Amino acid sequence: IKQETLHALDQAQDLRAWDSVRVSALGKSAPLVQKLKELGKVEPELRKERGRVLNELRNELTKAIEIRKAILEEKALNEKLNAEAVDVSMPVSVVKGTLHPLQRTIEEIVAIFAAMNFKVAEGPNIDTDWFNFSALNIDENHPARADHDTFYLPSKSTDEQQLLLRTQTSTVQIRTLLEQEPPIRIIAPGRTYRADHDATHSPMFHQCEGMVVEKNITLGHLKGCLVDFLRAFFGIPNLPVRFRSSYFPFTEPSMEIDIGWNRKTGELGGGSDWLEILGAGMMHPRVLANCGVDPREWQAFAFGVGIERLTMLKYGIADLRSFYEGDVRWLRYYGFPP
Ligand code: PHE
Repeated sequence: IKQETLHALDQAQDLRAWDSVRVSALGKSAPLVQKLKELGKVEPELRKERGRVLNELRNELTKAIEIRKAILEEKALNEKLNAEAVDVSMPVSVVKGTLHPLQRTIEEIVAIFAAMNFKVAEGPNIDTDWFNFSALNIDENHPARADHDTFYLPSKSTDEQQLLLRTQTSTVQIRTLLEQEPPIRIIAPGRTYRADHDATHSPMFHQCEGMVVEKNITLGHLKGCLVDFLRAFFGIPNLPVRFRSSYFPFTEPSMEIDIGWNRKTGELGGGSDWLEILGAGMMHPRVLANCGVDPREWQAFAFGVGIERLTMLKYGIADLRSFYEGDVRWLRYYGFPP
């Protein structure tokens, strides 16, 4: 019986076969069990010895059966896991997502300025007249207001302020000055809005603002910072950069910044033509004072740059409108990673 059962157990390759071995070895009608039942009829002299042998055999078989069960259960589990295994290296979908070129530019700008210790700051797209204009030294009758083609909201804020879609990220200069103590170094990428629509203007576009408020900050720091940024962003170490005097109500002196390029070939860095790319200046003392910062103690510079414009120049994108059309082929072509 022992040899037969052990052999049968060995042969059993799954739990079902194992169970029939178990039943025929230890079930009600198994010879061993029958013999145990009949022990009572055996003569007393023989009973003790026979009982010992039979019980020993039963224990031995019970143990062997349990061991075989554990082995087969593990085998069954492994087979199940193998059958259900997911190959995580298989491509899930043929269509891979990419970063939108504008997002890619924003991330590149953030990385370049992060290396110069700038933190990212934010402000709301819907803001008040005061943050967008008045605090920036553009009061109600200032002609600069007319240039901005502002989208005004029909309703007022809870404190009766005129609401609008911000026309420039310069609002974040004000918000940051009111929230943080100098010294401050921030950049603020975000959406901006102006009522204008053609091949080079979109009613929604993106800007990135930058602001540094520290002691003894000069125009020299502003120039060095922006030259470093432009050369790093375009990846052209000797990119010509020109600072040209200009006007913004919130900076004094103000300047516009051009980079050298070749108008005929579109090549950046080469040629003798100039392309305007940035607005900047030393922050107007009145703007600092509007935010409770003493301009005799703190000096500051600020700059603003168009994200679409930077991106178009870097990748040779011709029409601004393609940024917002969501054409997957276009996105895939300019997207990142490719
Ligand atoms: N806000 C200006 C614009 O939208 C750019 C700018 C920002 C200029 C900061 C000077 C300083 O044109």
